[in-house]
Amino acid sequence: MKNFTSVKDVEDPVALVQKALALKANPFNPDFARGKKVGLIFLNPSLRTRLSSQIAVQNLGAEAIVLDIGKDGWALEFEDGVKMNGSKAEHIKEAAGVMGQYFDVLGVRTFPELKDRELDYSEQLLNAFIKYSGLPVVSLESATLHPLQSLADWMTIAEHWDKKERPKVVLTWAPHVKALPQAVPNSFVEWMKAAPVDLTITHPEGYELAGQFAESVPVEYNQARALEGADFVYVKNWSSYHQYGQILNQDESWSFGSEQLALTNNAKVMHCLPVRRGLVIKDEILDGPNAIHLQQAKNRIYSAQAVFAELLG
Ligand code: CP
Repeated sequence: MKNFTSVKDVEDPVALVQKALALKANPFNPDFARGKKVGLIFLNPSLRTRLSSQIAVQNLGAEAIVLDIGKDGWALEFEDGVKMNGSKAEHIKEAAGVMGQYFDVLGVRTFPELKDRELDYSEQLLNAFIKYSGLPVVSLESATLHPLQSLADWMTIAEHWDKKERPKVVLTWAPHVKALPQAVPNSFVEWMKAAPVDLTITHPEGYELAGQFAESVPVEYNQARALEGADFVYVKNWSSYHQYGQILNQDESWSFGSEQLALTNNAKVMHCLPVRRGLVIKDEILDGPNAIHLQQAKNRIYSAQAVFAELLG
């Protein structure tokens, strides 16, 4: 594996899930990458990714150095061939080039602006870090994908499923007050297509995900019908891909509560976090026995550890 930006970068995703589960059982290996340095670069806020990545790197004996570049670094220019006489103080060529001198592996979190779909889906920022750092790069969430989250999600499903038949997994849209990226649902779909599960997506009309990810996955616009017999329900808001970045409705009948849970096969309920209680998922679910969002968050350590181990080893 050269970089970790998508399930497509992983030769054997099943083996990577097994590796992450094995690391969870036996996480501490301080000699594995002693003396190596990992840069964790954030252009946006993070709680889980930031903390779990640092713990993962420490478990491997390497040192993690975090830079909130959006807050503490110079404002970066990503366009080529511009005269930098505006507010941007440093070009990505130098910024990433310098990081290439300091680190062995780089983790980068970017976000989409949700204004220009082609620009966001080109992954301009992440690709610039890959190109100009010359380092193996781990996506800590990009404009369109969140692979460390999806690897942790797959681990969590595997831990809660010991039957031979494939579980029914439903990804359901839920309302939100802000326009959110499609990165988590895109990524979940991409990884679940490689996993031994039967995936259905449900959302109001207009929230169809990009074909490059959701193609061949059944979409059921009726949430109640989609949830019938579900073993796992992944609840997530996203903004429209086709009417790019827009909130088309905030229909609170899509919030996930006990009424929805009753339609399922006593499903485990998942969310990547942060979650808006009472709006996206009701308290009775988050505080109840079906919620496995904290296990997902814990597994973020071991998904990151498996990936950093591949790239540092
Ligand atoms: N799920 C997730 O990536 O959380 P953070 O944005 O807090 O890192």
